[in-house]
Amino acid sequence: MLRRLHPVQPDSFAFTPANLDWARAQMTKYPEGRQQSAIIPILWRAQEQEGWLSRPAIEYCASLLGMAYIRALEVATFYFMFQLQPVGRVANIQICGTTTCMICGAEDLVAVCKRRIAPTPHTLSADGKFSWEEVECLGACANAPMAQIGKDYYEDLTAETLESLIDRMSAGEVPVPGSQSGRFASEPATGLTSLTEAQGFESANASVALATEIGETLKRIDGTEVPILTKWRRNPEAATDDQTGIDSAPEIEPRPAEGAPADATGATEQEAQASSAARPVSKREPADVRADETDAVKGSGKD
Ligand code: FES
Repeated sequence: MLRRLHPVQPDSFAFTPANLDWARAQMTKYPEGRQQSAIIPILWRAQEQEGWLSRPAIEYCASLLGMAYIRALEVATFYFMFQLQPVGRVANIQICGTTTCMICGAEDLVAVCKRRIAPTPHTLSADGKFSWEEVECLGACANAPMAQIGKDYYEDLTAETLESLIDRMSAGEVPVPGSQSGRFASEPATGLTSLTEAQGFESANASVALATEIGETLKRIDGTEVPILTKWRRNPEAATDDQTGIDSAPEIEPRPAEGAPADATGATEQEAQASSAARPVSKREPADVRADETDAVKGSGKD
């Protein structure tokens, strides 16, 4: 499928201050000179903020990472998770249309979307609140048919329950995600046939319980929702896990190519060539290449 930028684009894009802090923190995860590796999470955050990826947003992310615009555009157009057109301001409904969901009624769900939102996918509803698309398997096949709406899964759907979800979301509600038929998780629809003594201890599975606790699955992320943690930087205040409070960051972090010196070209430690005894000598190899490498290894004390 050809994926192009939308013909109508906003004038500009900028991260919120909190999202910019988050993005800069993500960039520190990668070795010096390799910040471009953060392109997917940075683009994703831009999409979380705006709902979709506009050209200014893609260019902003590329500039932030010091990479050519075309490289960022290649990533944005390759992955279907990136929306290249405006989506509904309340939700973009992603109906799974793969085999299990299709057999269990995905086509009925698509019919609801066509009738209630827009006749074609990637099109805003008349009130701008919703858009929809058909996606490939989302990995919840045992609870088919299902849809991802916002950040969560709504499972065991019927045409009626999906229509009800649209009504409730349109009215400002955030319906509880998970099975819409009352299943706890993906046990048999007729009830447990084994481990029956294990049922009834919890009212919802961990995923639904967390979503219920947060009380929000639709809102866009402005960066202020949770503390920005960069425990890999050994900042004492940021070293603890926000869920458990446990400091799980290792005291000594692994360093790629530790001990290998930067070469005369100024390559960083992480970029320095590693030497491999298993690498066969090529007859076409320039005479001084292997010698340089050997010198570098001797110089590191790791001969
Ligand atoms: S087929 Fe729909 S979630 Fe797998």
